[in-house]
Amino acid sequence: MPKVQFLSHSSFLVETDSKTLLIDPFFTGNPKAQVKPGDIKPDYLLLTHGHGDHLGDGLKIAKDSGATVIAPNELAVYCANQGCNVHPMHLGGAHDFDFGRVKLTIAHHGSAIESGDGGWIYTGNPCGFLITSEGKTLYHAGDTGLFMDMKLIGELDAIDLALLPIGDNFTMGVDDAIKAVEFLKPKQVVPMHYDTFDLIAADPKKFADGAGKQGAKVTILGIGDTLEY
Ligand code: NI
Ligand code: MN
Repeated sequence: MPKVQFLSHSSFLVETDSKTLLIDPFFTGNPKAQVKPGDIKPDYLLLTHGHGDHLGDGLKIAKDSGATVIAPNELAVYCANQGCNVHPMHLGGAHDFDFGRVKLTIAHHGSAIESGDGGWIYTGNPCGFLITSEGKTLYHAGDTGLFMDMKLIGELDAIDLALLPIGDNFTMGVDDAIKAVEFLKPKQVVPMHYDTFDLIAADPKKFADGAGKQGAKVTILGIGDTLEY
C-alpha cells in the first residue's frame, strides 16, 4: 500500500512501492517544518502552484536530487529555465509515469512567484493532483476554494485519500472543506494548510466531526506522521 507522510502545511511525501514523490516542499521560512531541503531526495517533485508556501524549496530540491518536476506547464517551464528536469502537464490532462498515473485537476486560486524586486512572475493556473499508484488514488487539492466540479472528480475517480485545505482566508475553510468531502466522497481524508501561521488557524476536530458525518474516515496527521491508504 502507498503511504503519505505529512511534512507540514501542504507538503506530503508519498511513497509508492517503487518511487518517492514530494508535494509542495515548503520548509525554509516555515515555522512548523521539521525537515530541511537537503533531507529529502525524491524521484518526483509535484508542485501545485508558484506561491512561496508551495513551490517553497522546490528548485533547490529538484536540482540537488535530480527529481523530475511535475507541474502545470507555465510553472514547469519556469523550473526548467532554472535548471530542473521537468514534465509539464495541464488541467484535465493525465499521464502514466513509472510509479502510476497523475491527473491535474482545477484549483480556484492564483499562481505567481514573487520575483524579489516587488514584482511577480506569473506561472499560469494552479492545480490539484490525482495520483493513482498500486491501485490507490490520492487527491491533493492544492490551494483552492470549494468548487462544484469536486462532484465530478469524485464521480470519475474513487478517491482513497483526499488531502484538503481547511485554513480559510486563502483556501477553503472548515465548513466548505466538509462540503468538499460530501462532493468528493473519499474513503479517507486528511486536513492540511492550517495552523502554519495565525492567519490560517483552524480547528481540525471540527473538520473531523463534519467530514466524519459525510462517511469519510478522518485522520488528523501530526507533523511527521505517516498514513497508509
Ligand atoms: Ni497559494
Ligand atoms: Mn498556500
